[in-house]
Amino acid sequence: MVPSKEGTSVLYNYSQNKIFFLEKDITDLIKEKGLSDPSTLNILGSSARINENIGCDGLERKLFCEIVDNCNLKCNHCYGSFCPSSTDRNSLTKEQWKEVLTYFNEQEFGVVQFTGGEPLLRKDELVELVESAYGLDFKGIEIFSNCTLFEEELMGDLERFQDKLKIRCSIYSTEEEIHDSITNYPGSYTQTLNNLIKLKEKGFDLETITILMEENKESLKEIQELMKSLDISHSYDLVKPIGRGKQNYSVIEDLKKNYSTLRDDEDGSIVVRKPDAELSEKYNSCFYKTASITSSGDLYPCIFSRDILLGNVIKDGLSTTNEALLENAERFAHKNIEGCGDCELRYACNDCRPLVHSLTDDWFSKSPLCPKETGMINV
Ligand SMILES: C[S@@+](CC[C@H](N)C(=O)[O-])C[C@H]1O[C@@H](n2cnc3c(N)ncnc32)[C@H](O)[C@@H]1O
Ligand code: SF4
Ligand code: SF4
Repeated sequence: MVPSKEGTSVLYNYSQNKIFFLEKDITDLIKEKGLSDPSTLNILGSSARINENIGCDGLERKLFCEIVDNCNLKCNHCYGSFCPSSTDRNSLTKEQWKEVLTYFNEQEFGVVQFTGGEPLLRKDELVELVESAYGLDFKGIEIFSNCTLFEEELMGDLERFQDKLKIRCSIYSTEEEIHDSITNYPGSYTQTLNNLIKLKEKGFDLETITILMEENKESLKEIQELMKSLDISHSYDLVKPIGRGKQNYSVIEDLKKNYSTLRDDEDGSIVVRKPDAELSEKYNSCFYKTASITSSGDLYPCIFSRDILLGNVIKDGLSTTNEALLENAERFAHKNIEGCGDCELRYACNDCRPLVHSLTDDWFSKSPLCPKETGMINV
């Protein structure tokens, strides 16, 4: 049980992975009698209010490998400002990437994502790297692609990794004009959709993702329906004002209506897992769980935190990489964030520091999207 300043409290129930908001009188009762007292349990059973709006990410640490820093498209909102004329110089060799994969796997990163830029611009290398990751102890391997360049041959080359492989693909609208006006590439919608259908037919595990921004803010429902009809899972997020996304994001009031640092689980109930909550004592759990490496070997704690350069895996070597990531994750723990250190929700709250920084210009301020302050949850 974690008390709040107001005298109420939040009860973290790890056996059910849920949290409960407790009124002041029940908080006082628990303080007096303890949690296992029969009278406490009686009252708890009937009065603990389950909040409907909190979730958290999976538990695996995830490595993002940006194997290419250019792209065949030039999306309006791209955080990395990738485009056909990005340089893609000083790229890591296949052998260097393989060393990176081995090292991170040893540091208990359970999932690796090959992304870019557009990772399919390096098809041969991609297949070899997926094969390397497959031979290591990664539980999940992902390719994040706009899927315009997927040819049958590549699908065939990847088929043997299907038991561990997931393909994530961006789609912005069911209206060709809207999608293509975001990617700035006429025909991209048709290519993406056709390839998604082929990938589905071939049995690949697929997830489509829609980033919502001014141009497609009315498109979500139709995309959800289309994906449901194709039996392809789908998720969405709001554009972050990072890179080209700066010129293209909904105003903060829009964000506040839609975004929470406490996220929904699939069934809409509160989820808080013990290992995550324990991590939050010491670390920013989001930064703890991710690492991002660009095609030239630069190491960032996350794909969106391009202002926090932690080193270069080639120039500085790999041996101290995990240390640098952990130090950084500790620096941004809730206890160091103004106004969050004594909040009763701090073990479930999962704010995005790069987003906070881009909105406030301050790495250590409380999120403007704090669910308590925005009234998204009624504590
Ligand atoms: C950078 S792309 C790389 C993979 C591939 N090129 C693609 O577009 O699917 C990965 C994902 O980041 C999303 N993304 C890019 N800029 C963003 C931003 N400013 N805010 C939120 N998501 C963004 C893209 O829409 C895409 O879904
Ligand atoms: S979001 Fe993906 S497809 Fe669009 S420009 Fe960026 S890397 Fe390319
Ligand atoms: S952002 Fe708000 S809800 Fe989350 S830990 Fe900070 S004060 Fe608590």
